[in-house]
Amino acid sequence: MVIMQLVTSVDELREILQSLRDKQLTVGFVPTMGALHEGHLTLVQRSVRENDFSVVSVFVNPTQFNNKSDLEKYPRNLTRDAELLQKVGCSLVFAPEVAAMYTPDELSNPFEFDFAGLDQVMEGRFRPGHFNGVVQVVSKLFNLVQPTRAYFGEKDFQQLAIIRRMNSVLKMGVEIVACPIVREPSGLAMSSRNERLTSQQREIASGISKVLFECRTFVPGKSPFEVKSWVESRINSIEGLRLEYFEIANITTLQTAESWDEPTVGCIAVFCGDVRLIDVIQCS
Ligand code: PAF
Repeated sequence: MVIMQLVTSVDELREILQSLRDKQLTVGFVPTMGALHEGHLTLVQRSVRENDFSVVSVFVNPTQFNNKSDLEKYPRNLTRDAELLQKVGCSLVFAPEVAAMYTPDELSNPFEFDFAGLDQVMEGRFRPGHFNGVVQVVSKLFNLVQPTRAYFGEKDFQQLAIIRRMNSVLKMGVEIVACPIVREPSGLAMSSRNERLTSQQREIASGISKVLFECRTFVPGKSPFEVKSWVESRINSIEGLRLEYFEIANITTLQTAESWDEPTVGCIAVFCGDVRLIDVIQCS
């Protein structure tokens, strides 16, 4: 078994990756905020299959949290994460301190990126500044790692669309690989936040994907507007869940879909207790 490297210094990371590029090796990259679950490991396994060398970053990025207590409560366990990554064949874990990634000035002044409207809907409406922080950190990480391919889960559908735009506007030339959502046997989409749910809440939260799967059976009989209203009232009728939004959106523009003739996804954000969960389903 290859021994995985654990790197915290930007200079060391640069040096290792330069030597790989000199040998014309392909590099797969999976950016994460740690608290790894099966969903992350599936991305890493795919990277390991498709590249000579796989880098995983574990960095809880402060600039993408618009809620301080969410940042503080974010689960962190690098030792466990590193053990899991070693088992799936990851070559290198990059786990920098905040000071290695940001100057104090960057932490206090919001970074801005032109999203062409992609950030004005869904997550962007409820988490102002979130995607600026995501682009800020992912652009830094792409610059450092210069991967051949980077792997992202489709659960964060809006994030994926935004990363694609960033990669194209900034001419980064990375192949962005979208990977399907991994679900628990109950249907609940895997997320690091699930760790914060009690076992009773986990059961309640499995209602989210059940409602999403059922709503698909109404396509194309009901209009997108009718399906949206149905999902809203079903989720709100489940005790323990509080809907933040459900939108049926065009998969490219992320704007509200008017008909099933366009390719669409249903994107949802729901609170179960104080844990905010998101999920996505393909509709048409
Ligand atoms: O999806 C995540 O975990 C984060 O948004 C990412 C892409 C690692 C950036 O911090």
